[in-house]
Amino acid sequence: MGLQVNPILPKFGAECSGLDITRPLSPEELKEVTDAMDKFGVCVYRDTGLTDEQHVEFSRNFGYLERVPAREGMKMRLPFRELFDASNLNLEGEITQDPAAIQYRKGDRLWHTDSAFMEKRTSYSLLLAHQVPGEGGETWFADTRTAYDDLPEDMKEFLEDKVGVNSLWWSRMKAGAEIAEEEIDARPKARHPLVHTHKGSGRKALFIAAHTMDIEGMDKDEGRSLIKQLIEHCTQPQYIFSVKWNAGDLVIWDNLCTMHRGGEFDYEHEKRDMRRTTVREGTEPHTMETGDDPFAELFSSTPKTVDIVGAREGGR
Ligand code: OGA
Ligand code: MN
Repeated sequence: MGLQVNPILPKFGAECSGLDITRPLSPEELKEVTDAMDKFGVCVYRDTGLTDEQHVEFSRNFGYLERVPAREGMKMRLPFRELFDASNLNLEGEITQDPAAIQYRKGDRLWHTDSAFMEKRTSYSLLLAHQVPGEGGETWFADTRTAYDDLPEDMKEFLEDKVGVNSLWWSRMKAGAEIAEEEIDARPKARHPLVHTHKGSGRKALFIAAHTMDIEGMDKDEGRSLIKQLIEHCTQPQYIFSVKWNAGDLVIWDNLCTMHRGGEFDYEHEKRDMRRTTVREGTEPHTMETGDDPFAELFSSTPKTVDIVGAREGGR
């Protein structure tokens, strides 16, 4: 029996079943997985039984995996540098009380695309639930292809060659971290076209995120109000759905045609252990690199207020 794909919205999101992804997949099976991704942008695999190692191995099918930067003397909670820690836990596996860590995670509750602040974009993110709160803690997804399709023609024309300027610290500031705009200006930024053609489907998509700070060549206020307007457009009810997690569930999303955000939950009292692998756009399956990832450089200058005590909590 091949992969069963049940759409969540007519053109966006699918529940996938019938495939054991803990073991190596045949080229045909892999194609079924990527075809479903190209079509639906977000695929939910329930009760996968994936271990950390199998999670990483499965993810390597889609390209080079970004690595959490290694820092002098920094211990990590998770056993592989390919696993980004999206939990609310500290090294001991207890709920973190570190205000910087709590503050940093708030940024995940803004609509964003992973690593939009990096020059090399992220294609798939694969998030596996290990422990989930009793209530809340769902993840929301937005369809930036269909939202683009529905824009008025004059807006499409206007956006055609516009370039967004993206900064990690901009999104952290918007989430309430104390960081001055001059400080953001002094830190690395990444430029990405606001509209691009999504390779797997040939459909156009908006590429915007909480990290998108300015639009090149536009007045700052006008650019920022347009970014806000576009995010609001993409996140209207007809373009979004949420995933309610159970331990063992894996969700794959394609950052190049979606946005996502975490939902609220009682993060000071309930454990939520989520681990993510992140695939770099345009890289070959099973690419291994031993050198340091560009992430390392970016995070080496992270200011304390938005740092989450370095690598141990991951970064996006
Ligand atoms: C992520 C992320 C949201 C969530 O892992 O990239 O944004 O609900 N997660 O955990
Ligand atoms: Mn994210």
